[in-house]
Amino acid sequence: MTTTAIRGGLVITAAEETRADVLVEDGKVAALAASGSAFAQGWHADRTLDATGKYVIPGGVDAHTHLDFPFGGTASSDDFESGTRAAAWGGTTTIVDFAVQSRGQALREGLDRWHAKAAGRCAVDYAFHMILSDVNEGSLKEMDLLVAEGVTSFKLFMAYPGVLYSDDGQILRAMQRAAGNGGLIMMHAENGIAIDVLVEQALAAGHTDPRYHGEVRKALLEAEATHRAIQLARVAGSPLYVVHVSAEESVAELAQARDKGLPVFGETCPQYLFLSTDNLAEPGFEGAKYVCSTPLRPREHQAALWRGLRTDDLQVVSTDHCPFCFSGQKELGRGDFSKIPNGLPGIENRMDLLHQAVVDGHITRRRWIEIACAAPARMFGLAPHKGTITPGGDADIVIYDPHAEQTLSAATHHMNVDYSAYEGKRVTGRVETVLSRGEAVIEERKFTGRAGHGRYVPRATCQYLT
Ligand code: URP
Ligand code: ZN
Ligand code: ZN
Ligand code: ZN
Repeated sequence: MTTTAIRGGLVITAAEETRADVLVEDGKVAALAASGSAFAQGWHADRTLDATGKYVIPGGVDAHTHLDFPFGGTASSDDFESGTRAAAWGGTTTIVDFAVQSRGQALREGLDRWHAKAAGRCAVDYAFHMILSDVNEGSLKEMDLLVAEGVTSFKLFMAYPGVLYSDDGQILRAMQRAAGNGGLIMMHAENGIAIDVLVEQALAAGHTDPRYHGEVRKALLEAEATHRAIQLARVAGSPLYVVHVSAEESVAELAQARDKGLPVFGETCPQYLFLSTDNLAEPGFEGAKYVCSTPLRPREHQAALWRGLRTDDLQVVSTDHCPFCFSGQKELGRGDFSKIPNGLPGIENRMDLLHQAVVDGHITRRRWIEIACAAPARMFGLAPHKGTITPGGDADIVIYDPHAEQTLSAATHHMNVDYSAYEGKRVTGRVETVLSRGEAVIEERKFTGRAGHGRYVPRATCQYLT
């Protein structure tokens, strides 16, 4: 059993900020005590980490990643090894990735495949959601088994007809099942049938550039799907979590539902908070780097997203990390924006970008920790082990330097992708040291972890409902 003391830092959780020393024993937080107190002085520790002038924060929980994900005629460029290593670099110590049910297959087959992709390769801890792409009697029954074994959330798609799409009847059935078994339905809310009509019309008119991806995937079609998903969840009596919310009109739908007291939750992602259709319109096919769905929106939408994060109409910021290289992958859509694989890299950048939001005055420090650590942990049944710093919890801890300056760039990032969505962006704040269950995986800006340290974490059901 090894012990580590983290001394002299400002410990920030979603609940409080205190100048405290943290004692870590056998991978868990053993105690917190006022910095320099007699109690803390008395601790024996095998080693001491000096956090003077730094923040001591919970490791990030990224509840939306796609590692080694076959999509758009190719596969996301980070696998579980490179993706979780980049997560560690960025101060994220738990990811929840999406296992995928293929059409005509059992959930079990998809889940087994994702376990095989991840086992022995992860640098930090990981869990799974399940994507349902074939809702039928068999897969509905299997949902109960998955919830019982710790895969307690299911993503459905109102977008991507013919690929991952479910119709309203399938969605209602899955929601009814979730209402009975405690599962949480996660919704990709975009009206994919209407969008496909607009895609066809745009291409017929010769509108093939990346920026048309943003034009056809209209905010109103996100809002319409969000509204429909909320009503279907009400009919089914199930909770609902809307993923990657990007439109102001969708935030309004969530706010209205939450004002009624409905168990409806929302997630947004750094790309919607920091990037916009200006990026999609960059010349020379550069816009392809910013193609994801829901799409980036005009800058005017950002204020509503920040407000939603402050008012708790949006609870979680995840990355939807789904990287494709510009060279050879994004390029598949030259001459036809609908063939650009959808997704952005960001698993390494989330904690820093959200700290920049603190610096910029959008959110408080505690809200930073809430939306990036505590809320995703509770939303997906990982609390109290993950997402906070509390005696008995996992010692997933980041020593964060709030004063260090850095420039985000593909030249220095650790994600396996040949561009950064935030190339050249200056941010204040940087991860210094990262403990995963007490083991240093990043130590003073060096990777000290290993593939296989990360463990699979079975999850409880959503902790916002009890
Ligand atoms: O563009 C995106 N978001 N790609 C990943 C798949 C999804 O819909 O989340
Ligand atoms: Zn042990
Ligand atoms: Zn999605
Ligand atoms: Zn996604």
